[in-house]
Amino acid sequence: MNAITPDSPPRARSFRIAPGGTLRGEVRVPGDKSISHRAIMLGALADGETVVTGFLEGADSLATLAAFRAMGVEIEGPDAGRVRIRGVGLHGLTAPAAPLDVGNAGTAMRLLCGLLAGQRFASTLVGDASLSRRPMRRVTEPLAQMGASIETTAAGTAPLLIRPVPRLTPIDYAMPVASAQVKSCLLLAGLYADGTSCITEPAVTRDHTERMLATFGCPVQRDGRKVCIRGGSRLTAPPDGVPVAVPADISSAAFFLVGASIAEDADLLLPAVGLNPTRIGVLNILEAMGARLTITNHHDSGAEPVADIRVQSAGLKGIEIPAVQVPLAIDEFPALFIAAACAEGETLLTGAEELRVKESDRIAVMAAGLGALGVETEVLPDGIRIQGRGGRSLGGGSIDSHGDHRIAMAFAMAALRAEAPLLVQDCENVNTSFPGFARLAAGAGLGIEEHVA
Ligand code: S3P
Repeated sequence: MNAITPDSPPRARSFRIAPGGTLRGEVRVPGDKSISHRAIMLGALADGETVVTGFLEGADSLATLAAFRAMGVEIEGPDAGRVRIRGVGLHGLTAPAAPLDVGNAGTAMRLLCGLLAGQRFASTLVGDASLSRRPMRRVTEPLAQMGASIETTAAGTAPLLIRPVPRLTPIDYAMPVASAQVKSCLLLAGLYADGTSCITEPAVTRDHTERMLATFGCPVQRDGRKVCIRGGSRLTAPPDGVPVAVPADISSAAFFLVGASIAEDADLLLPAVGLNPTRIGVLNILEAMGARLTITNHHDSGAEPVADIRVQSAGLKGIEIPAVQVPLAIDEFPALFIAAACAEGETLLTGAEELRVKESDRIAVMAAGLGALGVETEVLPDGIRIQGRGGRSLGGGSIDSHGDHRIAMAFAMAALRAEAPLLVQDCENVNTSFPGFARLAAGAGLGIEEHVA
């Protein structure tokens, strides 16, 4: 177990968390990141004005907003989650004066890549060091099949140089990986193709793009795992007074679901969380582990289902995570690994090689952090085996989040079951998806302090 010593100085932003404590009361987590990106994109391409409420004011979705401003779209806000977008129509974007920098945001880069492939101007997409390592061929290869002209580095990574082409041809594409980003990228490119494009997913992935296209009067045709879109379909802003309402992000709620499950004497209410069936893997997995979740007040928020979740302490047990849950919980594994570390018995995850190409290699980085806390793991090529500590505490010490927002927040929650303080390093990117995380968590009882070096 490693200790907090002067040899491990905090990088730019770090969390120091006192061991133990609990979570109680009510926590309103910010807006859904995936839906916030899409609201800006479709609002910008629509005819008419779109008002978005509940927009996530995190660095990732703000990068998308800035990219559209740079392409001539007038956008007011965000102001307390409210954004007004003056749509320019399918062909109204203008050439950006400089490369579009989307920072850490994989969703922005992959979705924009499809959308930009259909424009009459050239553009360049760049990102931060983490995003510049992530695979982009999964989008550039099918886009090339549509006739798009996109240059990547020799490694198939960003920067992405997108040149205009006379026309995009429709595609009928079976995706080799279950990826909502690839599906959404091709749906957006499909809007600019001469005919109908179809994309088949190998497993169900989040369907926010499809739902939001319908909100904008452009329903996709679905046949099982296949979705089709007609090129040239116009998008229309929702009627006046009907905002695109972004629900609270279940991926952000996940840290509190795990924290309250593992802490003693916890009782937390998370109101109006998005419960899209393609996103609820974390609830299914936690329930299978024995979590105490009570879900009430089901209703719709625009095109998305939402509900209130109450979570109370529970004695979790290790499980074999069913393969079908993997794409439905793909962003929640850092938090779920903490749940597994505190559970009684072994948890086994397989079929999750995608975790290796997220904001960090989440299997390797989580295994290293868990090891530092005294948790035994076995790293597998496509997953991990975690030996839960059951009634025994986790150790304390210093954890390197490798600049991965979800890993930082997952380990912050681990302190609830630690026997000594935790220092979580390199937490700047928590702002990409969950601005105000430390303040909200502290309000619910976590002994967390944010330090900026
Ligand atoms: C997202 C899809 C997922 C997810 C990411 C957001 C989206 O990525 O991990 O955080 O908004 O479409 P993949 O499509 O790579 O699985």
